[in-house]
Amino acid sequence: MSASEVYSPGLEGVIGGETAISTITEGLRYRGYPVTELAELTTFDEVAYLLLHGDLPKKKELADFEKRVSAARTLPQPLRDLLKALPASSVPMDVLRSAVSILAIFDPETEDNSPAANLGKSERLLGQIPVAVAEQYRLSKGLAPVAPRADLGHAANFLYMLSGKEASPLHVRAFDVSLILYAEHEFNASAFTARVVASTESDLHAAVVAAIGALKGPLHGGANEKVMLLLQKAGGPDTAEKWIRDALARKEKIMGFGHRVYKAGDVRAKVLKDYAHKAAEAAGETKWEATAHVIEGVLEKEKHLFPNLDWPAGRLYHALGLEIPLYTPFFVSSRITGWCAHIIEQLGHNRLIRPRSRYTGPDGRRVVPLAERG
Ligand SMILES: CC(C)(COP(=O)(O)OP(=O)(O)OC[C@H]1O[C@@H](n2cnc3c(N)ncnc32)[C@H](O)[C@@H]1OP(=O)(O)O)[C@@H](O)C(=O)NCCC(=O)NCCS
Repeated sequence: MSASEVYSPGLEGVIGGETAISTITEGLRYRGYPVTELAELTTFDEVAYLLLHGDLPKKKELADFEKRVSAARTLPQPLRDLLKALPASSVPMDVLRSAVSILAIFDPETEDNSPAANLGKSERLLGQIPVAVAEQYRLSKGLAPVAPRADLGHAANFLYMLSGKEASPLHVRAFDVSLILYAEHEFNASAFTARVVASTESDLHAAVVAAIGALKGPLHGGANEKVMLLLQKAGGPDTAEKWIRDALARKEKIMGFGHRVYKAGDVRAKVLKDYAHKAAEAAGETKWEATAHVIEGVLEKEKHLFPNLDWPAGRLYHALGLEIPLYTPFFVSSRITGWCAHIIEQLGHNRLIRPRSRYTGPDGRRVVPLAERG
C-alpha cells in the first residue's frame, strides 16, 4: 500500500464523494432542511419533490408533480402477467427487484441518461413501485388488484391499493411520516450501491435494481422486517428482559439497534416512536410498545446501543395492520427518491467509482500444468 492509500474496513469514516442532497453532520438535513421540520410540516410528496428537484415545491409545482406521478401508477401488461404467474410465496423484495428490471425494458427513456430523462424515469418509478408491491401482495392472497386513485397522495394511495379501503387520517399521516424519514440518508449502503452502478454510466433502472438488492439485507433496510419478528420472539413485556439478555449472551445482532454513524441515537427513531405509540393505542394493542420499551432499556444500559429508524418503523407498520414482508418494500417506495437524486447527482459530475483492495491471498506460486497436477 502506498502512503496515499488508506484502508478502512467497511469504508468506515471514508468520505466516498460529494453530495448536495443530504447531510448527517450536525443533524440530518435534506437539501438543507432539518428532517425533524420536514416530518412536522410537510408531506412525503413535498419531500419527494424536494429531493428530486432541489427545492420545496410551490402549490402549482406540487400539483403538477403529483399529477405526473399518479399518471405513472400503471404497469405494462407483460409485468402484470408475470406478477400473476409468480408463486404466492415469492418474497416481495425479490418481486420488486425483478419488477424494476422489467420496467426498464418498457420505459421509453431507459437508454437516455440526460438529467431530464432521468428525472422523468425517477417520477415514473415513484408512481409504479407501490402499484407493483400492492398488486403482487393482493394476487398472493388470491385477491383482485385494486386500481390506484389519482386523488390520493403517495402514502394514502399505497395503503388504499393494499386494502381496497381508504385509510384513516391517523394511519395515512403516520405512514407518510415514516416515508419522509426513510427518504434519504447520504452515502448509506444502497445509495452508494446506486452511485457505483451509475458511475459506470449504466442506466437509472439498473442502479435502482442494485440498490434494492443492497436494501434487502437485514443490516440495512431488511432490519425493519426483522424488528417485528424479534419482538414476537421476545414474546411480550414480561418475557422481554430475559429474552434480550439471553440474545445478548448468544452474541446475537439486535435488529433495529446501532448505526454505523449515529452512536448516540438516531433522531428519526425518536420522531417515529410517537407515531408507533399512537398507532398502537388506536389499534388497542400496546403490547409491542411495552416490549420495545423493556428491550430499549436493557440495550442502552448493557451495550450503550440506541434504536435506529427501523425499530419504531417495524412496530408502526404492524400497528397499521400491515404484513411484515411488505415493510422493506415500503422503505423502497420512499428511498427511491433519494436513490434517484443520487444517481442524477453522480452523473452530473461523474468519476468512475473504483477503489483498491488490500491483497491477503497466497503469493509466490508457480503454475504447474494440468497434466502434472495429478
Ligand atoms: C447497523 C450496524 C450494521 C452498524 O454496524 P457497525 O458500524 O459495524 O457497528 P459498530 O462498529 O458500532 O459496533 C460496535 C459493537 O457493537 C456491536 N453492535 C452494534 N450493533 C449491534 C446490534 N444491533 N446488536 C448487538 N450488537 C451490536 C457490534 O457487534 C460491536 O461489538 P464488538 O465491538 O464486540 O465487535 C449494526 O449496528 C447492526 O448490525 N445493527 C442491526 C441491524 C440494523 O438495525 N440495521 C439498520 C441500520 S439503520
